Amino acid sequence: MAGGAPYFVGYLDGAFIPVEDVRLPLLAPGVTYAASVFEGIRAYRGADGGDLALFRMREHLERLVTSCKVLCLDEIPDVADLEAATLGVLERSGAQEDCYIRIQVYVGGDGEMTARGPTGVAVIARPRPQLAARLQDGLRCQVSSWRRISDNASPARVKAAANYLNGRLAGLQAKADGYDTALLLTEAGEVAEAPGACVLIVRDGVLIAPPVTADILESLTRDTVLACARQGRAVSEVIERPVDRTELHAASEVMLVGTGMEVTPVVGIDRFEVGDGRPGPVSRALQDDYFALVRGTSAAPRGWLTPIASQRETTE
Ligand SMILES: Cc1ncc(COP(=O)(O)O)c(C=O)c1O
Repeated sequence: MAGGAPYFVGYLDGAFIPVEDVRLPLLAPGVTYAASVFEGIRAYRGADGGDLALFRMREHLERLVTSCKVLCLDEIPDVADLEAATLGVLERSGAQEDCYIRIQVYVGGDGEMTARGPTGVAVIARPRPQLAARLQDGLRCQVSSWRRISDNASPARVKAAANYLNGRLAGLQAKADGYDTALLLTEAGEVAEAPGACVLIVRDGVLIAPPVTADILESLTRDTVLACARQGRAVSEVIERPVDRTELHAASEVMLVGTGMEVTPVVGIDRFEVGDGRPGPVSRALQDDYFALVRGTSAAPRGWLTPIASQRETTE
């Protein structure tokens, strides 16, 4: 997690404790075998000094519960309990500015690889200011020689810690070769996603997204941005379909979308430029739409924003 030290209060297995005490035991299968799933949620300060509000908290926590089911945990945490832990950390920390919350559910104890419990829950939060340069200038990506994990090998559509070895290897290779990050193809050679974000392309004024069956994480930002695009005027159409590698060359724009990446233009892939090598108008329009939603200057659908200062009230 880039962007500042963790807040002083964390949560571990039912208790709010000093953040430095949020530690997982070395022998826990959650550590040794990566039997662990997580969520990353952002809270944004409202425009013009508005309240801090978590963006799409409920859906993130619902996805976490789905991840727990895929992990075959004996005890699946309730969304309500996860919500209370998340809000509790932020409220007790007195967070006021943009921040990032990490919620980790893991197999604790000291069991074997197939242990299904005990279930542990850990939450920490830290300030996370926006990276203006990335949003403004865009990133350069390398199409990785690593392939995106197949859903038949590791559960690609959920946020399992084990999946991130794949993204790490691709990211390391991209950086060693002088790029900012990677794009991974599926085993079948179609565009999947980046190590921590989904990919969207623009061709002939149409926004195209690899489908959720392309071994991607079922991303909430992808869902948000596609909804913005369907409502806005930046593109004539939004299509979810497989994307071939060479469409990355043919595209006028490419962007990465995710909680961490937000809406980040891709200006170069391998040694070629995307479009004219600068962020394009669709990326700019979707950035504007996205930030208007998360900062509360455009009307978000019911329940997408959960203000922190007013505790558990939502936009419902
Ligand atoms: C591998 C991967 N793909 C996509 C995303 C985007 O998902 P979301 O928009 O739900 O954050 C993430 C996380 O941000 C991710 O880790």
